[in-house]
Amino acid sequence: MSHNEPGSADVRRPSSASLDLLADRIHNRTCHVGIYGLGYVGLPLALRFAEVGIRVTGFDIDKQKVDILNGGNSYIERITSEQVTAAQNAGFTATCDFALTTAVDIQIVCVPTPLDDHHQPDLSYVTGTVDRILPYFREGQILSLESTTWPGTTEELLEPRLRSKGFIPGQNCALLYSPEREDPGNTQYRTADIPKVIGGITPRCLELGIAFYNLAITTMIPVSSTKVAEMSKLLENIHRAVNIGLVNEMKIVADKMGINIHEVIQAAATKPFGFVPYTPGPGLGGHCIPIDPFYLTWKAKEYGINTRFIELAGEINHYMPHWVVQKVADALNEHGKAVKGSKILVLGLAYKKNIDDTRESPAVEIMALLQEKGAHVEYSDPHVPTFPQKRDYHFDLKSVELTPEAIASYDCLVLATDHDAFENDILVKRAQLIVDTRGRLIGANVINA
Ligand SMILES: NC(=O)c1ccc[n+]([C@@H]2O[C@H](COP(=O)([O-])OP(=O)(O)OC[C@H]3O[C@@H](n4cnc5c(N)ncnc54)[C@H](O)[C@@H]3O)[C@@H](O)[C@H]2O)c1
Repeated sequence: MSHNEPGSADVRRPSSASLDLLADRIHNRTCHVGIYGLGYVGLPLALRFAEVGIRVTGFDIDKQKVDILNGGNSYIERITSEQVTAAQNAGFTATCDFALTTAVDIQIVCVPTPLDDHHQPDLSYVTGTVDRILPYFREGQILSLESTTWPGTTEELLEPRLRSKGFIPGQNCALLYSPEREDPGNTQYRTADIPKVIGGITPRCLELGIAFYNLAITTMIPVSSTKVAEMSKLLENIHRAVNIGLVNEMKIVADKMGINIHEVIQAAATKPFGFVPYTPGPGLGGHCIPIDPFYLTWKAKEYGINTRFIELAGEINHYMPHWVVQKVADALNEHGKAVKGSKILVLGLAYKKNIDDTRESPAVEIMALLQEKGAHVEYSDPHVPTFPQKRDYHFDLKSVELTPEAIASYDCLVLATDHDAFENDILVKRAQLIVDTRGRLIGANVINA
């Protein structure tokens, strides 16, 4: 049985010559990169390596995505078809065929890490991807995990898988963890300019990883272990989740006291040191902030620790859509109307402004809660023309065009996400009633929530 044959389980004699060869290929820029999972994280990374002239193959189990990319098109709003074709010209192709793994030198895994129905980490995408890669893995390759996960994943789940096939990190392969810091919609920072934290299983792994990522990313932040890299990513996201929870709680208190929280934050933010402003909203959204903190919560239990800040922030943030719906009910009540039978338009389905990502979006939950109470709910979002398929929610809807007549025809508008494309003046002028969860609008018909 040859080393590269699928299913080969022979135990190899470790030889560092294969890693020396890999180092040469990185140094000569002739290395070939495989990106596994071509979503919001994987695709921009693939395009970045192609941009600097590195040959890239993208792997995904979703054939539709693979076909779209190979057709020179994009399924992510902020990535243009021109960017995809430019990458193709530099050798980028997409495939569902994992056997091509043998041909690449570096495997970067960017697959989802959601929570399961019991709110526990679901690492089946990560382990599933690595199990698909392994039959084609060969000596002298790098495996790098970028998906957000609990500290210890690379050592506890990936390293044993490699070792069981005779691959010894630092000797005949390299194993890394380097978290992605993609911020959808942020035009200030490009993938290339965002410093990249990286941890290796051994110093040799780390050295190869830095050399490789440095081809496309300017600043590398090496840390002493994969665990440190894994936990640093969680800390970043927990920091946000907890502070957003805090400011959401402050919003509820301020509202009861008749104080405008946004004015309070603006005033506090003038302090030139020691204060970081966070903005309250209708709740948390996206693939990261509502989910990642609970990866640590789960792992901490193994050490007998309850992560109380994370749980508390989660509770408050989770409550926010319910709070918004109560504010809608109160506002309609003031107008002599009930939620039941009212026509309500939710503005902004994406979880944050100017993007098309609706994963975990609180706007969707607000729609569902209002519908449960008998409202006729629709939405308008220029970035999301059709209501996407979701596991827990189903709305057979298309985005409503915001003509002055349409705006005036609803009993209430709910500004969930403040896209720049919304014409705030027209909204305020035409709407009967607006519940604003972002503190963007001013008018007699505007209720802050
Ligand atoms: N979206 C963000 O802003 C962001 C930022 C930082 C980190 N992350 C983390 O990065 C990881 C990926 O997130 P994302 O937003 O890119 O997810 P995504 O859902 O946009 O993309 C994941 C892709 O992986 C593919 N996939 C699933 N199983 C696969 C398999 N076995 N083999 C190959 N492909 C497979 C899916 O078809 C999809 O195209 C997650 O761990 C996430 O927490 C995301």
